[in-house]
Amino acid sequence: MNTKKTIGIIPGDGIGRDVTKAARIVLDAIDAAYDDLQFEYRHMDVGEAAVKRHGAAFPDETREGIAECDAVLFGAIGAPHDFVVLSGIRYGFHLYANVRPIKALKGVSVLQPGADLVVIRENTEGLYKGIGYDDGDHHVNLRVFTDEGMERIIRFSFEWARKNGRRKVTFTHKESILRHTDARMKDLFYEIAAEYADIESDDMEIDACAMRVVMKPGTLDVVIAENANGDVLSDVGGGIIGGLGFTPSANIGRDLAMFEPVHGSAPKYADKDVVNPTATLMALRMMLEYLGRNDIAARLQASIESVLEAGKVRTYDIGGNSSTSDFARAVAAGLTGS
Ligand code: IPM
Ligand code: MN
Repeated sequence: MNTKKTIGIIPGDGIGRDVTKAARIVLDAIDAAYDDLQFEYRHMDVGEAAVKRHGAAFPDETREGIAECDAVLFGAIGAPHDFVVLSGIRYGFHLYANVRPIKALKGVSVLQPGADLVVIRENTEGLYKGIGYDDGDHHVNLRVFTDEGMERIIRFSFEWARKNGRRKVTFTHKESILRHTDARMKDLFYEIAAEYADIESDDMEIDACAMRVVMKPGTLDVVIAENANGDVLSDVGGGIIGGLGFTPSANIGRDLAMFEPVHGSAPKYADKDVVNPTATLMALRMMLEYLGRNDIAARLQASIESVLEAGKVRTYDIGGNSSTSDFARAVAAGLTGS
């Protein structure tokens, strides 16, 4: 078995540097603690750093480097380069499924302690495809679905639910208005759902689902959403569990995946070693699952949860004054038992 994994590290802008540094502390601890897993890192630039070094926010060097990695960890990216960089990675590498878990953790002040759902955002089509035109006083952006893209994300969601012990998949839409896209996709959803008799399936209009996330998140499990809807819904979800500091994500394609916190680059906290790296460390946990190391992933998640619950090492956002790297070191220590 190949025990060496090439991990791409893309800090990006602002606090992306702080949180990827924290992730390295944990990755290095895993590398040292497990004989059957070694990491080789490949550092790549995007955003401001890439503009300075290579003259472009998403340079060819980075695109080529990503292609050689087993998995990529991404920090954060701010305006004005966010769309160019994220679409370069997500669309460029066909990372069609954006998996965004929304789970309330103990030790964090949350609106909904019972929340434990997963938004699966379609990541390459829909309204964010960017196709449109201006014609006089008409300004148009199109919501684009393809048969292939619809089927791919629906199947992915059922497979993901099955693999992760989830019991229900909910399809969100606005089928009453969006007949060409959402009504069609809903039919396909139920056709495919019939092949997964072990998993419950239902559907909801997206607006009703957004309210459901806020008021009764415990009734939701895996939720499929179109690209733009999923973008909004995952921030709504973040809002009920203490914010985007607690929302990791996995961008998954056929043969590559990129992992990132859902939050942005928060430039005013950059390089201060103060932000909460929980979302990034949980993105790392998702990376370990992707790499087939559920054993280490489970230990990492347990360590993150116990550091938060114990409350001794707390970053400023949860009422403490520990640093980003203090938090990462505490998680690393809990993970390896040192
Ligand atoms: C996200 C972000 C990005 C998106 C922006 C920064 C382009 O909001 O990852 O959710 O819309 O996908
Ligand atoms: Mn977003």
